[in-house]
Amino acid sequence: MRNRFLNVFLVIFPSCLGDCVQDSIDVLVLDCILEGYDVSKGPETDSLVNVSMFVESIASSEETSLDYSFRIQLIHHYIDERLQYDPGNNSVLQGLNAWYHLHRIWRPFVLVIENRNILDFNPADDTMRVWPTGLVEYTRSLDLDLSCRTLLDVFPFDFPVCMMTMTVSGFSENDVKLNWTDKDLPMMSTFFYNAYPVRYTLSACRPEEVDVYNATCLKSMILFTRDRGSYWVTVFIPGFILVTSSFMAFWVSIRCVPPRAMIGMTNRLTFLSAASSFRNQLPMVSNLEALNIWDSVSILFIYVSLLELIIVDHLQRHPRDGQETDSEFRRRELQRADLTHWDRFCLYFRKPNAEIGADIDAWCRGVFPVLYFFFIIGYFITFHGHYGYNTDYTYDTFEALIS
Ligand SMILES: *[C@@H]1O[C@H](CO)[C@@H](O)[C@H](O)[C@H]1NC(C)=O
Ligand SMILES: *[C@@H]1O[C@H](CO)[C@@H](O)[C@H](O)[C@H]1NC(C)=O
Ligand SMILES: *[C@@H]1O[C@H](CO)[C@@H](O)[C@H](O)[C@H]1NC(C)=O
Ligand SMILES: *[C@@H]1O[C@H](CO)[C@@H](O)[C@H](O)[C@H]1NC(C)=O
Repeated sequence: MRNRFLNVFLVIFPSCLGDCVQDSIDVLVLDCILEGYDVSKGPETDSLVNVSMFVESIASSEETSLDYSFRIQLIHHYIDERLQYDPGNNSVLQGLNAWYHLHRIWRPFVLVIENRNILDFNPADDTMRVWPTGLVEYTRSLDLDLSCRTLLDVFPFDFPVCMMTMTVSGFSENDVKLNWTDKDLPMMSTFFYNAYPVRYTLSACRPEEVDVYNATCLKSMILFTRDRGSYWVTVFIPGFILVTSSFMAFWVSIRCVPPRAMIGMTNRLTFLSAASSFRNQLPMVSNLEALNIWDSVSILFIYVSLLELIIVDHLQRHPRDGQETDSEFRRRELQRADLTHWDRFCLYFRKPNAEIGADIDAWCRGVFPVLYFFFIIGYFITFHGHYGYNTDYTYDTFEALIS
């Protein structure tokens, strides 16, 4: 009964349309404003929606994973001239709280193309305020699941990059335009779990992309770093310890073959199982260049140390035929004064096998650690130094880099 009376009242007094006065509670004023409002149509004159982004939290399930869950807040500012009203004699302007009318007021439905989650209007998290000029201040929270990308070649020295491409669903570029309110997104002290954002970059889309979506389009790029400490603990330091442990065998007497073989074998097996268990956490891709180099060079050092043991042991136990006469000959020849370097080199191989073996062992004690040291230095300079600080890319250069 009262409803019908209200309807009749509104039909008789159509003067409500357009010039509603803020003389009552927000709900009633908005009821008045929304008389005859078409929620399916966007603003007619000014179609520019200014958007700013606030990152509430970022989390990743695993350190090695490229899946990041975001919770962001999009703050929209746009003018919908159909929502203008007369603030009346209100001295303190607060705008109208339009939360109860959300579904009746046009809102740009911003989609994030890369998102794998289902996006919906969820009014529980949204807020909207309408100002007398028709300015709408609309805040929406979005839960995004993004698969980010990175240069896996340099993993774990890489910097994962998450892209967000925002478009407005259902409206072409001429109907609704998005623009960033502020090009600089400050680093927020928000909640991060397994995620280490370094930089946020906001930009517009390239014209080709706008054509593809046939809609307005904004980009935001978030650059992450990794918790390098955890890779030192799980990959580099254990690898270093295992390789240098296999060099210890050179310092054990050449006659103690079983302990030396045991050192070599244990290191080889431990290294292989540690490397494969770490790789199980990684995406199955072929271009893990930095990690492949680390693993193959390490296992090569371990293997060659083991090989050296076998050769030296063989030389120890198998004297050549005529070794005695060779030694005798060598001793005589070395007393000559006119020997060239080449002669000395050739005479060296007249030594008894056991002595050659002992020399090889002594030689390896120095050469292996030095070679490994140079490898380590070169490796970290290349991957950490060279790639580590060259991340000043925009989203265009990143696309070029990764493809
Ligand atoms: C949106 O931003 C532009 C400048 O970037 C400004 O001129 C305009 O007034 C803003 N619109 C709203 C509704 O805030
Ligand atoms: C505003 O206040 C003046 C006097 O204080 C009054 O005459 C006028 O009717 C008021 N207007 C509205 C819309 O309430
Ligand atoms: C883009 O959208 C507009 C309006 O929605 C439409 O008129 C136009 O044909 C579309 N362009 C393409 C290339 O689909
Ligand atoms: C978008 O905003 C920037 C400043 O943030 C401004 O320079 C540019 O003109 C705006 N674009 C439009 C279409 O309003």
